[in-house]
Amino acid sequence: MQSYRFFRLAILAATVCLGQLRAADSPREHLSLDANWKFHLGDDWPSALHLNKAGASTGPAAEKFGDSAWRSLNLPHDWAIELPFDPNADANHGFKPVGPGYARNSIGWYRRTFELPAEDSGKRIWLTFDGVFRDATVWVNGWLVKRHEGGYYPFREDITDVVHFGGKNTVAVRVDATKFEGWFYEGAGIYRHVWLDKTAPVAIAPEGVFVQVSFTNKNVPEGPAKVFVTTDLNYANTNSPKYFSTAVDAWVNYKLLTPNGETDELKDARLITPNPIKLLDKSGALVTFDIPSPILWSPENPKLYKLITTVSVDGKVVDQKETTFGIRTVGFDKDKGFLLNGKPYELYGTCNHQDMAGVGAALPDALQYFRIAKLKEFGCNAYRTSHNPPTPELLDACDRLGMIIMDESRLLGSDSENLKKWDDQIRRDRNHPSVAIWSVANEEFTVQSTPQAGNVARTMQNLVKSLDPTRPVTYAAPQGDTFDGINGVIEVRGWNYHPGGDMDKYHAKHPDQPNVGTEQASTVCTRGIYADDKARGYVSAYDIRGTQTAERWWSYFADRPWLSGGFVWTGFDYRGEPTPYSWPCINSHFGVLDMCGFPKDNFYYYQAWWTTNMVLHLLPHWNWAGKEGQEIRVDALSNCEEVELFLNGASLGKQTMKRNSKLSWPVKYAPGTLSAKGFNGGKLVAEQKVETTGDATQIQLTPNRKTINADGTDVSVFTVSALDAQGRTVPVAQNKINFSIEGAGKIIGVGNGDPSCHEPDTFVAQPPVKALPVHNWRWKLAALPPKRGALIPEYAPELDDSAWNTIKAKTDGDTGEMPLKEGEFAVYRAHVKLTEDDLKNPGIQVRFGTIDDHGWIFVNNQRVGESHDWQAQALCDIKKAVHIGDNVIAVGVRNDAGEGGLNPDVNMEIVGPAVESPWSRSLFNGLAQIMVQSTKDAGEIKLIANADGLQPVTATLTTQAGAACPSVP
Ligand code: GAL
Repeated sequence: MQSYRFFRLAILAATVCLGQLRAADSPREHLSLDANWKFHLGDDWPSALHLNKAGASTGPAAEKFGDSAWRSLNLPHDWAIELPFDPNADANHGFKPVGPGYARNSIGWYRRTFELPAEDSGKRIWLTFDGVFRDATVWVNGWLVKRHEGGYYPFREDITDVVHFGGKNTVAVRVDATKFEGWFYEGAGIYRHVWLDKTAPVAIAPEGVFVQVSFTNKNVPEGPAKVFVTTDLNYANTNSPKYFSTAVDAWVNYKLLTPNGETDELKDARLITPNPIKLLDKSGALVTFDIPSPILWSPENPKLYKLITTVSVDGKVVDQKETTFGIRTVGFDKDKGFLLNGKPYELYGTCNHQDMAGVGAALPDALQYFRIAKLKEFGCNAYRTSHNPPTPELLDACDRLGMIIMDESRLLGSDSENLKKWDDQIRRDRNHPSVAIWSVANEEFTVQSTPQAGNVARTMQNLVKSLDPTRPVTYAAPQGDTFDGINGVIEVRGWNYHPGGDMDKYHAKHPDQPNVGTEQASTVCTRGIYADDKARGYVSAYDIRGTQTAERWWSYFADRPWLSGGFVWTGFDYRGEPTPYSWPCINSHFGVLDMCGFPKDNFYYYQAWWTTNMVLHLLPHWNWAGKEGQEIRVDALSNCEEVELFLNGASLGKQTMKRNSKLSWPVKYAPGTLSAKGFNGGKLVAEQKVETTGDATQIQLTPNRKTINADGTDVSVFTVSALDAQGRTVPVAQNKINFSIEGAGKIIGVGNGDPSCHEPDTFVAQPPVKALPVHNWRWKLAALPPKRGALIPEYAPELDDSAWNTIKAKTDGDTGEMPLKEGEFAVYRAHVKLTEDDLKNPGIQVRFGTIDDHGWIFVNNQRVGESHDWQAQALCDIKKAVHIGDNVIAVGVRNDAGEGGLNPDVNMEIVGPAVESPWSRSLFNGLAQIMVQSTKDAGEIKLIANADGLQPVTATLTTQAGAACPSVP
């Protein structure tokens, strides 16, 4: 065991550790709440939110509500990805019909129930949402517990006061994606994880442990690492009166797990709260200790430490939490650029949005790892979370796989709300060793050069320094030689574009300000396409368009160490921003990788100059039937000193490679083999060939992982390709591939990287809906019941209503007869016959036209819903209220003003079991992708692919029982 020098600064006192504390004693449970939600798309309860009285919200917000006809799904979920493309929708958001102008598709409801055992009584219960796009309203057991707008920020609530211990609890979430926040695809829905945490009343506060590591010489990791740990405890907001009358004598104990698997017990800090405790108060403990020979974290060697923090009160463990951290220094030097562990470290970065083929914004964790691993393949070592806070699992993947993060806020602002978000983001992310640089904002064109923007950026920067003193701060500035506003106050000058322009001038004027290329390139290329095609929306992958090329920015940056390297716009293609085109293009072309993560040719340009691998890549493919004798440009992307090109064995010449550039030959096309040899110092070091293939004859399925965890969340990503008779990938194949699956898995998404493909990414099982018009309504004026929603004799099914008024049927363009005058109340009744077969369906609901102004809806004397918005079409689940034979729908209608009544355009809807639709995807230039997710059953998964004229194939995955994330059933 290593020995530590030890300092303690507890609030009142500090003493020696009293003994071992066992993890099993901790009452903390961190449970996934992702599985088994019900979902409904559509604003069918627009007036559900009631702010007049607690618990007064109605419809799905109410504790008792029938959601049996709703779709069942697991989170994370993005409903925008499921919608068809629409040429009239917003291009920047990927032509999905959601957001402004698409009211019907922009509001979604989620509901879920969960049990809390009686033994949990006395614990605190927390509900955390990692990200909802956007504008979420959350109710627990009918209580409004949260309103949260921002689509990228997490939020949590202590719901202890309103839960039922020893019973069923209901969470309802209304998500309103009517407004955009960005100018890129943003998804819609609960697209990140949801958690239920249980803690003792005295517990570590959310984000309550901060491990800060520094060295005597700030940027150089020499000598022992000095570790400062602050632990915030929540010790109030408790329902136990004891804690208001007695000071809490809490002990905080720390244990360190090193990357080598060694365990070190550290001394503890004692923390005595003030007496009496103030409601909602918290206290912090600080310990410092040294790690004499730290193992450093870097992208190349991502070694992680763990700190186990244990809290005990009155000798009993009340909480325990594990915090992963890493030891490394980061900084900037005005001349040497970015420093990692004291040495200049070139940032080979990419900017990325958060969506992917097949799944949109709702990425299972395995896809975070898949994406980071793909970026690392071409040497990328840094990732900018443009232009918003990332999901925590992305940071976990970067900690573990080794990737530096530039962590960006969504918006510039020093108003209290924006600062609170920024504060939350910093506290949440600051233990991650991958997070190395904060970015206060991106391209705030309207304000960036004003003194006020400078003030705001300074305030945001100061907040970073107070919460996280070791990390530098930048701003992604699109300006050139401008020092006004933000650039003049920001610690590190960020450069969005301008290579060759004003950078040298600016640097000469402000030689003491460090620099970083926050966003560069914006190169547009389509994978496997070698001529621009505006009609189809494709851009040539030769990367020779204007000044926005990979070679142009990188060769400029590579020559200037003070620029620190930079971040390519972008690592992956993303939905929206179909620059330089619009419809039929639905996603961007900026990526080094396409939407699926398949490499475009530029992948090899970066790999050549960003890695030490021997790289030799030729483009284009060599399937150009019909172009015999015509000149075709052939490029070699390589880091070899010399490259010689051959066609069918005949040399086309040897050329010398200039650093950070590429080579090119004009070649008269003849089918066969294009090959190249790479030389260093005259010695052959690499060979490469591209062959003309035959037609596709068979399908190939290649999983990125052959064994996945049987935890219901893990994913294997299959590459789908077509091979010719000799087993060579056919680079021009466009076959439509059909998929089916057997065993312990399900398909969650498909893609192919085609920026103009309008095939669905996901095939959602849809329930058939049989609509039965409800005719022959009768009505009669009645006395408004004193309690408006109360059951009255007029609703009784057995009542004879044959002598009541009839109602004229609705005609088109007419709301039907509206006979009620101001202040009148009437009961409307209709009869519906249901068969035994009807009742076998999972859902039976009734959908109303106008109910003007208020309606209380009963079926067979059971209240099934209400309506308080005359423009809304109320929808009620009536499955539990109906029986075989005659059923009576009765609605009490109160008219406030003008004409009123019930529009007789009412339908009974029989919702059948969801019907799976078969999955398919066309290959795009030889490739497609399919993502397979495990269920919770260990066993085999068989993925079967077939296509017209091709030999089918079956691939097998194994799923293994493993440590699944603890979850709420
Ligand atoms: C930048 C912007 C990015 C993206 C890019 C496209 O100016 O920061 O979000 O829009 O342009 O070239």
